[in-house]
Amino acid sequence: MSTTERYARIAGLGHFVPEHIVTNDDLAKLVETSDEWIRSRTGIAERHFAGEGESTATMATNAGREAIEAAGVAPEQIGLLIIATSTPDYPLFPSTACLVQSALGLTQAGAFDLSAACSGFVYGLITASQFITGGAYEHVLVIGADTLSRFVDFTDRTTCVLFADGAGAAVVSASPGPGGLRSFVLGADGDGADHLIVPAGGSRTPLTAESLANHGQTIHMNGREVYRFSTTTPILALEEAARRAGVAIGDLDLVVAHQANERILQTAAKNLGVREELFYSNVNRLGNTSAASVPLALYDAAASGRIRAGSCVGLMGFGAGLTWATAIWHWQGLSSPC
Ligand code: ACO
Repeated sequence: MSTTERYARIAGLGHFVPEHIVTNDDLAKLVETSDEWIRSRTGIAERHFAGEGESTATMATNAGREAIEAAGVAPEQIGLLIIATSTPDYPLFPSTACLVQSALGLTQAGAFDLSAACSGFVYGLITASQFITGGAYEHVLVIGADTLSRFVDFTDRTTCVLFADGAGAAVVSASPGPGGLRSFVLGADGDGADHLIVPAGGSRTPLTAESLANHGQTIHMNGREVYRFSTTTPILALEEAARRAGVAIGDLDLVVAHQANERILQTAAKNLGVREELFYSNVNRLGNTSAASVPLALYDAAASGRIRAGSCVGLMGFGAGLTWATAIWHWQGLSSPC
């Protein structure tokens, strides 16, 4: 194939969530909250938490294996592995991508972690597409995986009810097309860094007895600021991506957005003047799985027939950083169904 006729197709999808389900009533035993409060403010009914022996790398490996098998490619055909995560197995090195590269036998692949919080998978998909359409690789495995339950303060009711664990994966393959990524917008605003932050454990504030006592290794969030950001900037970025692709938002078959919170999805639909059903939602069952949420939603949407060959799909990631990534993706069909 010459570079002028190469397109990036999602050929296979994979998913994994841990077995252990945590209900709102379970959390109400830990903090002063209720099923009614959590459902009405977030839409979340239950979520999955990793168990003993499970980590970001083990979940990513399970999701990645399914995606490779579904794509019908051999592990050694994967040229690059990108793992979007904020919760790597080890804080510095080795990268989670190296652990997964080994576990999956991706003997011919380069591998790196990508840090863009809940926007990470969409950042990764766009990055993979550049490598494919540029001619560098035939197959790139992109995985979004996070184990947020290990970084939640279970005495803080404002955050511990939101976050969860899981992994989702996509094999992006070269295709004569046409289709795949039609347009994208990547964005960042570090002025909002403090709105969603794990303050300790990095080079600025290493873990000490004092920072641990202050819960510095857990997620700190300014919920109102995050809500304000989530219901404005990513929506404008989705509109911009649609404009660049020459489509109207109303002409999209589905929008698969980061599953932070049902109210954010509903507000996005309202602000865009489209029906709520245009935004796929599975946050009620899975909670906020950060980088895993978009691929887990893509998987469910494809499995339930909401995305088919020929569908025009909007992707919308947003999260800590602050970061956002939107894309218009022309779905060419999977090598085998979810
Ligand atoms: N159960 C019961 N009460 C609670 C809980 C809880 N789990 N959490 C907060 N409250 C209380 C607060 O303490 C406060 O009480 P007070 O008035 O006595 O002080 C009251 O509820 C209202 O608190 P607010 O923060 O004003 O609640 P709000 O209606 O804004 O909802 C929420 C909070 C759901 C977090 C909202 O701000 C939000 O959706 N923000 C977006 C955050 C988000 O989704 N983050 C996900 C991660 S970011 C991402 O993925 C991009």
